[in-house]
Amino acid sequence: MNDARMTSTGHAVSDAPWLDLHFQACRAEYEEALRFVGIAPGWTVLDAGCGSGGYIPLLGELVGPAGQVHALDLAPENVADVERLVQEGHCAAPTEVRVGSVLDLPFADATFDCVWCANVAQYLTEAEFTQVMGGFRRVAKPGGLVAVKDSDGTLLQVLPLDPAIFARRVAARRAKAAGTGLLGSWCGSSLARFFRQAGLTDIVRKGWLVERWAPPSPATREFVAMGLRYGAGLAAELDVPPADREALRAAAADPDGVLDDPDFCSREAFVVTIGRIPT
Ligand SMILES: C[S@@+](CC[C@H](N)C(=O)[O-])C[C@H]1O[C@@H](n2cnc3c(N)ncnc32)[C@H](O)[C@@H]1O
Repeated sequence: MNDARMTSTGHAVSDAPWLDLHFQACRAEYEEALRFVGIAPGWTVLDAGCGSGGYIPLLGELVGPAGQVHALDLAPENVADVERLVQEGHCAAPTEVRVGSVLDLPFADATFDCVWCANVAQYLTEAEFTQVMGGFRRVAKPGGLVAVKDSDGTLLQVLPLDPAIFARRVAARRAKAAGTGLLGSWCGSSLARFFRQAGLTDIVRKGWLVERWAPPSPATREFVAMGLRYGAGLAAELDVPPADREALRAAAADPDGVLDDPDFCSREAFVVTIGRIPT
């Protein structure tokens, strides 16, 4: 089992089984966040770094048959999944899907009414994301929107495990990344400065807490068990107290012990940052 859930292009927690299960476990909040952006019927939108296509059906519903959805991802296997989704009729709008990089967008200037980019910034350095925001500004129309969603991993918890274990683990990840410029999966609350630098206006931020108390749904069970395995693997390579490493290893080895606890609760937070292209 690939516990890092890696794509063929080297991005962790980005393979289709992980993305699909994560989406299923967080669907209510994820879809509310996309609806919050304010995408309207008839718009042409880009899903930049679309993964396995979790947002594609709702994007299609929002723009409708008079609109257009374009989806782009670096991983060919994720693009193939989205193509399948579209062929099976899960997107109500005309849709084009292609392999490509957010660092070099293969679209003409002023093409999109909105660019949506979810959980991609975390894989990029500050310099790369600055370049990406320049690209988004170029391909979005004057007056159009750019909306970037990303996690704030500083708020991740799985109770009844001690929340301090998760706080120390994310601190160790940040310390390890220091100096590399990597934005990381804790970047969600700190992306507005890139919108300001790119000259976007009317910047809005809104956060969501995805909180699931006992008893967990089947999707939450499966996703949290997968997450515990991934998280234990991460901690094994980080400068965290041995007792933390052991607690995470034990939880990953026996996820039911955590999931069946009457005080089980999983919490993860994300933020959507929205800005407008000047006219
Ligand atoms: C965590 S997944 C998020 C997928 C989807 N947006 C979602 O929220 O469900 C990150 C995705 O970003 C893609 N990705 C990473 N770097 C990229 C780049 N430079 N250009 C395009 N896609 C990229 C990965 O292939 C992966 O599918």
